[in-house]
Amino acid sequence: MKYLVTGGAGYIGSHTALALLAAGAEVVILDNLTTGHLSLVPRGVPFYRGDVGDAGLLQEIFHQHRIDGVLHFAAKSLVGESMVAPGHYFLANTGQTTALLQAMAEAGVRRFVFSSTAAVYGEPDQVPIPEDHPVRPTNPYGLSKHLIEAMLPWFARVHGLKWIALRYFNVAGADPEGRSGEQHDPETHLIPNVLQVAQGKREYLSLFGDDYATPDGTCIRDYIHVSDLADAHVLALQALAAGHPSGFYNLGNGLGFSVLQVVERARQVTGHPIPLRIEPRRPGDPAVLVASNARAMAELGWRPRYADLSVIIETAWRWQSRK
Ligand code: UFG
Repeated sequence: MKYLVTGGAGYIGSHTALALLAAGAEVVILDNLTTGHLSLVPRGVPFYRGDVGDAGLLQEIFHQHRIDGVLHFAAKSLVGESMVAPGHYFLANTGQTTALLQAMAEAGVRRFVFSSTAAVYGEPDQVPIPEDHPVRPTNPYGLSKHLIEAMLPWFARVHGLKWIALRYFNVAGADPEGRSGEQHDPETHLIPNVLQVAQGKREYLSLFGDDYATPDGTCIRDYIHVSDLADAHVLALQALAAGHPSGFYNLGNGLGFSVLQVVERARQVTGHPIPLRIEPRRPGDPAVLVASNARAMAELGWRPRYADLSVIIETAWRWQSRK
């Protein structure tokens, strides 16, 4: 089987490319390198530099390779940025993905695994959040992803697309073998920022809001190891190949940690005091996001290998302190 991985030079895409190769699949990568890095593209993998909305380039790729399916990671993914530049998110995420789906339909490529997000749920009515929870994003990023989710059944009905949309919770950690990891510039995510303080690259952690309706007042998130997330993509492709119906799956560990709890755990892992400063809330942040992962476990047979938050932080720490 040969798969096109868009965003395969990025954090999650590169880990998934490694998981696909380990499972015996062939991989082709398309990435425009705006946030990706050539150094994260696994050796020997055909690489195309360009946008996922570039119909001509997609045609060329589908012509040169017999692609069995597409895993679509390439996207803008920062909640805060989407609050100040919503148009960029609708163009880059919703618009370009529409072009990709159209090119797939024209080329007869019928399997699609889509990187969706917990941000589609907005402020949840219940946690852990099941997949049939109402969808009402509180930021343009979440909406830009949900709009794509809403298109997929139409491509299925008209063009026979078989799809699985994976709603990621907070992805963190790095390849335990040290081949890939998180490398954003600027970095906005909690765990790498906390580790930058431990490395001496930041003086303190800015903690965005301690007045949320949570036990310690800071936001609660469900952190999932990037390699466990990558495994779920391989399982999703296997499920589609076996005729499993299209649908949505949450990917998280079902465990919530507050920002303060993450900082405390990082202090234990790094031995650094990690000073923090309380700052105002970051716009668009829901108070609590924790996944119900029962569906992915039952239907895809997914079992996380690195669910322990300390292991997630340790692998990220090894990656960040490399060289
Ligand atoms: N936070 C801080 N200080 C920082 C960075 C983050 O206090 O320097 C806080 C945030 O305010 C939030 C929590 O830590 O409460 C987690 O923030 P992240 O930026 O690490 O992650 P988000 O929850 O904002 O978003 C991530 C992905 C999204 C995805 C979402 C799903 O970036 O793409 O998880 O839960 F939609």
